[in-house]
Amino acid sequence: MAMERTLSIIKPDATERNITGLIVARLEGAGLRVVAQKRVWWKKKQAEEFYEMHKKRDFFDELVAFMTSGPIVVQVLEGEDAIKRNRSVMGATNPVDADPGTIRKDFAISLQRNSVHGSDTPENAKREIDLCFKKSEIVG
Ligand code: PPS
Repeated sequence: MAMERTLSIIKPDATERNITGLIVARLEGAGLRVVAQKRVWWKKKQAEEFYEMHKKRDFFDELVAFMTSGPIVVQVLEGEDAIKRNRSVMGATNPVDADPGTIRKDFAISLQRNSVHGSDTPENAKREIDLCFKKSEIVG
């Protein structure tokens, strides 16, 4: 299995409830290593750029409003098969569909307030990591 990196975000609903440490513990417990991490509060332009692939979706404005409503924690996670591994520990996008033991099943509030984001493909992981971090901020 190849070593990979993926971009993870702990979303505003989770920073608001002060559960970022609980979420990081789940990620580390799943075999993922945090090789970059920072707490930021995105401006509208940053959220629109990050989620540009969804700009035609009817929830786009709501998604951007939510992701700029409070601080987030952006991370680069490293591990074997990290993209799939992270999506697996995150659980389904909508917490009502998420498997028991996943982050979203245990912590998410709704489809929008779903606590975490994870890149879905190697191409998107590279794009998202490059958008959020300088090379010098990633320390493996
Ligand atoms: S996925 O994982 O890309 O297949 O999921 P998708 O359903 O396409 O959703 C993409 C992201 O949009 C968020 N989302 C919403 N936000 C606000 N309101 C509504 N109704 C809504 N529906 C979906 C969803 O949480 C996904 O966020 P990320 O950060 O990519 O996980």
